[in-house]
Amino acid sequence: MCGIVGVIANQPAAPILLASLKRLEYRGYDSAGMATLEGGVLDRRRAEGKLSALAALLLDQPLRGTTGIGHTRWATHGSPSEANAHPHRSGPVAVVHNGIIENYLELKRDLVDAGYSFESQTDTEVIATLCASMLARGLDCEDAAAATIARLRGAYALCFVFDGRPDLLICARRGSPLVLGFGEGENFVGSDAIALAPLTDRICYLEEGDWAVLTRSDVRIHDAAGNPVTRDVQTVALETIVADKGQHRHYMAKEIHEQPSVIARALGAWISEDRTRIACAAENVDWARAPRLTIVACGTAYYAAHVAKVWMERVARIPVEIEIASEFRYREPPLPDRGVTMVVSQSGETADTLAALRYAQSRGQITLGLVNVTTSTIAREADVILPIHAGPEIGVASTKAFTAMVFCLSALAVLIARKRGEIGLDEEHGYVELLSTVPRLMSETIALEPQFEALAHDIARSSDTLFLGRGLMYPLALEGALKLKEITYIHAEGYAAGEIKHGPIALVDELTPIIALAPFDGLFDKLASNLREVMGRKGRVALIGDAEASRDLAEEVWRRVEMPAVDPLIAPYIYAVAVQFIAYHAAVAKGTDVDQPRNLAKSVTVE
Ligand code: F6R
Repeated sequence: MCGIVGVIANQPAAPILLASLKRLEYRGYDSAGMATLEGGVLDRRRAEGKLSALAALLLDQPLRGTTGIGHTRWATHGSPSEANAHPHRSGPVAVVHNGIIENYLELKRDLVDAGYSFESQTDTEVIATLCASMLARGLDCEDAAAATIARLRGAYALCFVFDGRPDLLICARRGSPLVLGFGEGENFVGSDAIALAPLTDRICYLEEGDWAVLTRSDVRIHDAAGNPVTRDVQTVALETIVADKGQHRHYMAKEIHEQPSVIARALGAWISEDRTRIACAAENVDWARAPRLTIVACGTAYYAAHVAKVWMERVARIPVEIEIASEFRYREPPLPDRGVTMVVSQSGETADTLAALRYAQSRGQITLGLVNVTTSTIAREADVILPIHAGPEIGVASTKAFTAMVFCLSALAVLIARKRGEIGLDEEHGYVELLSTVPRLMSETIALEPQFEALAHDIARSSDTLFLGRGLMYPLALEGALKLKEITYIHAEGYAAGEIKHGPIALVDELTPIIALAPFDGLFDKLASNLREVMGRKGRVALIGDAEASRDLAEEVWRRVEMPAVDPLIAPYIYAVAVQFIAYHAAVAKGTDVDQPRNLAKSVTVE
C-alpha cells in the first residue's frame, strides 16, 4: 500500500508534496515523510502517525527547495515508526516506495557483506542502499537507478532523488500504480491521478516495468527492456477530491447521507433515456451463451457481490460463483469456455482483485471491471469498465460505494436477464421502476438516524455483537459486522440466521447484542423461529424490521427500529443504511477514529 509523490517544480516543493500526500492518505496513514533538495542538498523529515504529525514537524523544521519526494505509509515491513518511515536514505540517495520487495533479504545480505549498514527494518532501505552502492561503483544516477530496479523482485512504485541533483527525479513501476503529470516547466509523479489533480490535468500512466527520468523541461520513459517509449498523455477532468465534510463531523457520515443522490446518479447513468431499460457497457457481452458469471472481490465489495449473486440467480437465472480475490487465483480454478469474470472494486487498485482479473484474462475469460475510480488500474485493464458513479469515497469504511456497487450489480442482473431471454421489456421496465424507488426509500431510512444512534449507544457498550439475516439479508449481516468491527473495534460476526444453531448459538448470552435484519419477506417466519431460539437462551435481540415484522416480534425483542416496508429485492439498500448508522454512531460513542480506523488503509495495493 502506501502513497508516493514526487515533484520537480518551479515552486516550493514541500507545500505541494504535503497537499498531494493529503490526497493519498487513503492509501495508508501510519507514518509519513518527505525529502527535498535545497541548493542541491538533500534533507528529509519523517514522523510517525498521521500526516498532521509531519505537517506539524515541517512547521517547526521547514524543508525548502523545489524538488522533492513524499510518502504516506501503511506498514508492511517493520512497525510504524519514524525509523521505518519513508523516504529512506542511503548516502546521496533518497527513495519512496509503494509495494513489497520479495528478495530484499537476499539483497540486504549482499549489501551487509559489502560493508553497508541499515537503520530500519524495511525493504525500501535496501533499495536506497543498493542504488547508493551502484553510485559508489561509478555509475551515474540514471544508470544506478536502472541497475537497482533490474535487481528488484516483487511489486514497486518508486521515486528517487539524489543529493547534488535538484534537476533530476527518477521513478519506476512494476505491480504498483504510478502516474506522471506534466506541467509548465515542472513535472510530477504520484501513486494516482488524484494526487496530482491540483497540479496538472495532463497525465500519463506508466505501464508495467516502465521507468522514467524527469527534469523540469523533459520526461523520458523507458520500458522494462530499457527501450525509450512514449505513453499516451491524457487530459483528465479531475474533481477536487479532498471535498469538505459539509455539515458533518466525519466523511463517513457525509457519505452515508449522500447515498440517495449517489444512487440517483448511478440510476441516471445506468438506464436508457426513456427510463425503461438498463443501458451499460456490458450490453455487448454474449450473455446468452455465457455458462457462468464469476464475481471476484475483497471485503465490502465481496459482500456486494454476495447480494448480486442472489439478484443474478433470481432475476437473470445465470449461475454465479462469488470468490474472495485473495483465494481465487491460488486455487487455479478452471473457468468455463465463454465464461465471464467480473471484478468489483471501489478503488480499482486492490492487489488481489487486480491479480484475479489478470488470472481470468489468462484463462480466456471476458472480463468486466465494476469500479468507482475510473482512472484505476482495474479500469484500464478490464475488457469492459462499469463505473459505479459513487464519487470520491474518503472514509476508510466503505458506505456509498457498497450501495452503489449493489445498485449497479442489480441493474446488471436485469440487463443479463433480458439478454438471456428470462424477462421481457415490460418486466425490465418494472425492474427499472423498482430500482427508481431506491433513492426515496434510502432517504426515508436516513430519517431514522436518531433511532439507530440510540441503539448504537447500547451496542457501543458491548464487546461482542452478532448480526443475523437470511437470504438477501445474510450478506448485509456480514457487511454490518464488518462495518462495526472495523470502526469500533468491537468483535462482531455476521451469520446466516439458520446457521447459528450449528455452533454460534453457544456465544449467545445476555451480554451479546444480536442485531436481526428482518424485512417481512418470504424467509421472515424462518428468521423469527431462529430469533426465538436465541431469545429463549437469554439473547438480546435488536430487531431491524418493517411494521409486519415488528408486529410479530415487538413484544419479545430487546430493542427495535421500524424500517420502511419495501420489496424484498431492494431491501439491501435500506438495511445497508441501518448497519452503517449503527456502526458509525457506535464508533462516535466510543470515540474511535471513524474515518481513519487503526491498522487500515482505503486502498489495499499489497497482497
Ligand atoms: C471495508 C472496506 C474494505 C474494502 C476492500 C476492497 O469497509 O472498505 O473491505 O471493501 O478493501 O476494496 P476495493 O473495493 O477498493 O477493492
